[in-house]
Amino acid sequence: MNYLLDLLGILFLFPLTLFVIYFGKHLHKNEHKYYVIIGLFALLTGIYAIYLQVIGTDLKVENRVLYALVFQGHTTFPFFVLVMFAGAFKKKSKPKLTLMKVRRELAIIGFLFLIPHAFLLVWLALTNLNPTGTIAFLIMLPLFVTSFPKIRKKMHPLQWRKLHKWAYLSYAMIYIHIASITIVFNLMNNTGTELLFGFVRFGLYTAIFGVYTYLKFKNYILIETPKNTKTA
Ligand code: HEM
Repeated sequence: MNYLLDLLGILFLFPLTLFVIYFGKHLHKNEHKYYVIIGLFALLTGIYAIYLQVIGTDLKVENRVLYALVFQGHTTFPFFVLVMFAGAFKKKSKPKLTLMKVRRELAIIGFLFLIPHAFLLVWLALTNLNPTGTIAFLIMLPLFVTSFPKIRKKMHPLQWRKLHKWAYLSYAMIYIHIASITIVFNLMNNTGTELLFGFVRFGLYTAIFGVYTYLKFKNYILIETPKNTKTA
C-alpha cells in the first residue's frame, strides 16, 4: 500500500491527462471557479499544515493516506509535468494544441496544490539542508502571480515572456528536488526493499524529465537548424 502511495504523483498523470482531454474546455471556460475552489482548499490545508507543525504532529505516521494525497507533493507534480510537456511537443501537434489551451490553468492550479506540500515540509526540508523545493517554490511565485490574465495584461508582452523563461530553471529545480529526495533522503532513511523502491521512483521521475528534455531538444533542433529555416 505504501509503495502505491509513493507512486501517486506519477499515477495521477493518467486521470489528469484524461481530464484535460475531455474537460479541458470546461476548465478553460470556468477557470476562475476552479481557482476559487482549489484556492480555498489550498488555504485551508495550508493553515492545517501550519497547525500540524505547531503541535508537532508527524502526519506521515499519523495518517499516511491523507499525507500522500494532499501533502507529499504528489498532487502538484502531474500539473507541472503537463505544463512542461505543453511546451515540448511539436508545434501544431494534437497533444500540444490540447495542452496549450489549458496551460495557464494547469500552472495556476499546480501552484495552488503546492501550498499544503510546501507549508507542511519547509521546516523538515531546510533543517535537512535541502532547499531545492523551496528554491523551486520561490522561482515559481512571481510566475504564478503574473499568470493571472488581469496582471499579465498590465505587463509588456516581452517583459512577461522574459520573466516566464525562469520556468525552465524551476523545472530543473523540481527535478533536482525529486532526485535529491529519491536518492539522498532515500539512502539516509531507507534499507532493503524500501531503498530499492526509492531508486525505482528515481528511475521513473528521471524517465519523465528525460523524455521532456529529449522532446524539447528535438523540437528546438527541428525548428532552429539551418536546413529547416528558409534563410539557409
Ligand atoms: C517550499 C517548497 C518545497 C518543500 C519545502 C518541499 C519539501 C519536500 C520534502 C521534505 C519531501 C519529502 C517528503 C517525503 O519523503 O515524505 C518532498 C517530496 C516531494 N516533493 Fe517537494 N517540496 C517543495 C516543493 C516542491 C515542488 C515545487 C514540487 C513540484 C512538483 C515538489 C514535488 C515533490 C514530490 C513529487 C515529492 C515526492 C517525491 C517522492 O518521494 O516520490 N515539491 N518535498
